[in-house]
Amino acid sequence: MHVISRSFAARMLAVVLLLTALSAPGARAAPAPAPTPTPATVAPGTVLVTGSSRGIGFELVRQYTEAGWNVIATARKPQEAARLVELAGRHPKLRLEALDVTDGASVAALRDRLAGTPIDVLINNAGDTDGFRGQSLGSLDHARFGYMMELNAHGPIRVAEALLPNVEASGQKKILTVSSLAGSMGARGGGMPGGYWYKASKAALNMLVLSMAADLKARGVLVAALSPGQVDTQGYAARGIVMPGSTDIGISVTGLRKVIAELTPAQSGTFIRYSGEPQPW
Ligand SMILES: NC(=O)c1ccc[n+]([C@@H]2O[C@H](COP(=O)([O-])OP(=O)(O)OC[C@H]3O[C@@H](n4cnc5c(N)ncnc54)[C@H](OP(=O)(O)O)[C@@H]3O)[C@@H](O)[C@H]2O)c1
Repeated sequence: MHVISRSFAARMLAVVLLLTALSAPGARAAPAPAPTPTPATVAPGTVLVTGSSRGIGFELVRQYTEAGWNVIATARKPQEAARLVELAGRHPKLRLEALDVTDGASVAALRDRLAGTPIDVLINNAGDTDGFRGQSLGSLDHARFGYMMELNAHGPIRVAEALLPNVEASGQKKILTVSSLAGSMGARGGGMPGGYWYKASKAALNMLVLSMAADLKARGVLVAALSPGQVDTQGYAARGIVMPGSTDIGISVTGLRKVIAELTPAQSGTFIRYSGEPQPW
């Protein structure tokens, strides 16, 4: 018989409630239609994905690789990511690179290794909820605030700034960042209590995306934030925890790729759901 501590159960309940709220119709700009995106059809180029060892990042890498793109998959320890290594063994156009987005030296080293390599699509995906631990008023873990801001907000802008010459040297010139409605003022962060550090870091990230989009407009670089919907990347279903309204990871990522492929200059500086709907900042 499994024994689950009360604090673990309470945390899981909070996570499910928060994720449920983030997928609830009231948390969106408009109700989502049943998402059945068709695969994107833009000509393959070079894409770089951060945080690709698992979850949405890995699925992005898998789909772009299968679609014939040159893919640069970054992870903190790529050689320990078994599925990435296996995929790279079958696809010579998939290149694995080490990157910790919270470490300036790691970002600079990647920039140097990629000098002169055009990157059509840069996808800042690396990020974490930190399990929503210590993120409720009354029991806030203040020691974790800095790390969450460093990972979810500072990391993507650090990577984008370092690899901007690569993006500008490409044909498509797109920088996408995977954000969350948890960081949306317009959606009231999903309308749920808790998740303070995650919500704050994604809200800061959204403003950085807006700022970067404005600065790069005249240079022809398209910049947008993406919402993947609620995707079970933490194995909740396998543990019997129901997440109402969740989206299959394959459908979410197929949708994200379609959004990226069809991104227009008018959409630069906006926040877009995987199904193509604009999201409130
Ligand atoms: N899943 C959802 O429902 C959902 C909803 C809205 C937004 N998002 C966003 O989507 C993105 C991906 O989420 P996910 O659910 O796929 O998460 P995940 O399965 O937990 O994967 C997170 C990825 O980020 C990487 N990462 C963590 N810290 C890193 C660091 N310091 N440097 C580089 N990589 C690091 C992890 O790599 P390691 O293997 O090295 O730990 C892992 O590859 C995140 O930005 C998340 O906030 C997800």
